[in-house]
Amino acid sequence: MVIDLRSDTVTLPTSGMREAMMNARLGDDVFGEDPEVNALEKECAELLGMEAAVFCPSGTMTNQIGIRILTQPYDEVICYKGAHIYRYEGGGIAGNSLASVRLLEGNRGRLTADEIAVNINNAQDPHQPITSLVALENTVVREAGSYYRLEEIAVISSFARSKGLKMHLDGARLFHALTETGDAAGDYGNYFDTISICLSKGLGAPVGSVLLCSKALEPKARRMRKALGGGMRQAGFLAAAGRYALKHHIKRLKEDHQRARILGDTLGKASWVQSIMPVDTNIVIFTLNDSVSPQQFLQKLAEFDIKALAFGPQQIRMVTHLDFDDAKLERTVQVVKKMIL
Ligand SMILES: Cc1ncc(COP(=O)(O)O)c(C=O)c1O
Repeated sequence: MVIDLRSDTVTLPTSGMREAMMNARLGDDVFGEDPEVNALEKECAELLGMEAAVFCPSGTMTNQIGIRILTQPYDEVICYKGAHIYRYEGGGIAGNSLASVRLLEGNRGRLTADEIAVNINNAQDPHQPITSLVALENTVVREAGSYYRLEEIAVISSFARSKGLKMHLDGARLFHALTETGDAAGDYGNYFDTISICLSKGLGAPVGSVLLCSKALEPKARRMRKALGGGMRQAGFLAAAGRYALKHHIKRLKEDHQRARILGDTLGKASWVQSIMPVDTNIVIFTLNDSVSPQQFLQKLAEFDIKALAFGPQQIRMVTHLDFDDAKLERTVQVVKKMIL
């Protein structure tokens, strides 16, 4: 039994999901004729309280399209310094949007209106790029899945809009945040111009992300998707997996959070762990003592068929997901308890 905790992207489709995929009704989605894709887009738009949705191959693509259609070249995007859109999307903001980025400290990755306020450039000064977009991430992957409450987002959004700024959400793990806050997904549409959600992180679909936007922005989003090579043809197989994931795999996310907390409690007591971030959702990040390198640790874990991820100097990440059940949790806990480094 291999236990893979590197990411919640490693899940394989369940038998129910495979059946839904095999029964998918298909058409050419670039012609707008794939019934499953059309149904998925409609359901997502309704779910998030937005007018339109565009199915894409990845969360990187939905983020990059969102940023591209909300900015002009030479603009500046405000985001957390560890944001996925900046750290982990291959320099996409520079390449796709020709925009610069203003990196904020945040509180465990969460920005506030006050912090944003002092980082908006003077649009009359030609030295400074024009601040045009605030991009939030919820949950924040670099900060062990910390999350915003909707009321915090409402304050940021109303401030940003009062300054003429647009709002983008990287909601790769938005449903993990909603699991903790109890906020309504449908209210999110009020506060953002574009929202990216991922079906393949935690929700268990093999591939797929959806960009939510207004009817007015939708043609631009579809044009950018095409330009980036993201127009897929009989994508209904994937959309069917996504629809299944939304229907069956949101409610169970609380199990992932519970298992992550147990894992975090166990790791927090290990002699070789120097510190651990609070475990808010399904991501556990801890720092090893200086005496043990991440490579040594990962090698030792591998001897027990457990995989984790090096996530910065001395840091290790473990993420719980659909394929990490109680038996795997129990085994991982036993290994951690007995491990001497
Ligand atoms: C917060 C966040 N945003 C975006 C992405 C990008 O998703 P993808 O891997 O589908 O491009 C990820 C990937 O793990 C992520 O964690």
